[in-house]
Amino acid sequence: MNDMTRFDRDEAARAILARNDRGGYTVPTDRLYPFQWNWDSAFVAIGFALFDADRAYRELERLVEGQWDDGMIPHIVFHAPSDTYFPGPEVWGTRHRIPTSGITQPPVFGMALRQVHEAAVKAGLPQAQERTSALFQAALRSHRWWLRARDPDSLGLVAILHPWESGSDNSPAWDVALARVPTTTTTTIRRKDTGHVDAAMRPRDEDYQRFIHLVDTYRDCGWDPQRQWAAAPFKIADVQMTAILARATADLMHLAETFGSAEERTELSDIHRRLLDGLARRWRPELSRFVSLDLISGEDVDAPTQACFMPLVALRLDDVQRKAVTAEIERWHQGLIVGLPTTPSFSPAFEPKRYWRGPVWAVVNWLIADGLRLNGAEDLARRIEQGTVGAIERAGFCEYFDPTTGEGLGGDAFSWTAAAYMVLRRRAGSSGAGAEAP
Ligand code: GLC
Repeated sequence: MNDMTRFDRDEAARAILARNDRGGYTVPTDRLYPFQWNWDSAFVAIGFALFDADRAYRELERLVEGQWDDGMIPHIVFHAPSDTYFPGPEVWGTRHRIPTSGITQPPVFGMALRQVHEAAVKAGLPQAQERTSALFQAALRSHRWWLRARDPDSLGLVAILHPWESGSDNSPAWDVALARVPTTTTTTIRRKDTGHVDAAMRPRDEDYQRFIHLVDTYRDCGWDPQRQWAAAPFKIADVQMTAILARATADLMHLAETFGSAEERTELSDIHRRLLDGLARRWRPELSRFVSLDLISGEDVDAPTQACFMPLVALRLDDVQRKAVTAEIERWHQGLIVGLPTTPSFSPAFEPKRYWRGPVWAVVNWLIADGLRLNGAEDLARRIEQGTVGAIERAGFCEYFDPTTGEGLGGDAFSWTAAAYMVLRRRAGSSGAGAEAP
């Protein structure tokens, strides 16, 4: 892509979104991920909002078609069949009117909704109020589900019951807890991912057995949240998930000024307070980061991963914390071609090419830069954004990047990388080498 202008690259990013469109929703990439994924679609909607607010709404509306009666928005909506992905709808065995998976993913939805709404109003899109209002109610139902189903003990932290819910499938953060999950499955495992991408970059077979053991366990609970909570052999109060939920709640509070009732505004502020308090308790000054909590062992998850910085999207750090976090993030960048690694190179778990065990993901950088900006660390935020834009310009719209070489890895023509490019290029502004004014 080196000889292209930024205008051409923006066009190329839009072309990827058009190519991955399957009728109002966008697949993450062809074949490897042939359905609608929850947080991918939220990022994609923010990308669409830059040039087509109507299509941005459609992305969220199609995702909501998969929302369960109890409020959960599933991690995959299987709008149309495909045989290039495992586990498909027959393995999940859920009972929604459209086939879906039975677990969820980070609720970036609320963040996206605010941005889509603002873009639609700016563009004078007809029916923006009605569309936002309907999606606001869907988001509110999903936030209520989170608190009820995933924080029943009111810790102010929401738990994941499956590593796939975190969006960081095989992160070292789950190693200790996942090792307790048996490798036995009642479902026959027929991996398809390693037919599309080099197995050395993907989660290991043993991880897959445990992932499917969890799916079997929860399907046997009839996907009932309370039964799953009781049966779960994997249960982690995740700071990344909680931070995204808290931030999305803040965005809903903003929308609630127009679209919510007085009770809904109070309810959202209560949820927000509870989550911020929960997150604040997870700060570990000796590590300069936040840590998740393993609800089964009662122990801190001290593996260093990108999740440890995600609370910045929701919390206002004090000066001491801000200095410590920015110094730590700088340290994680040292000696690398592209940051921020999802696992730092000084960690024994670091693998620069294997999925969530080191590689750089554009959407992670998008959130972390956003959190740094909110916390007044503008300079570092901009460097992360420029680094991400530069990595995409060199290697293409790949799923993720090797931090030691900058090589683009995983699936190509990836939707959320295309969306991230458009958004981050504008946010990074014109101070980067060769950057144009947005
Ligand atoms: C992988 C990622 C997850 C993402 C999905 C589709 O499962 O770990 O975060 O949503 O792919 O891109």
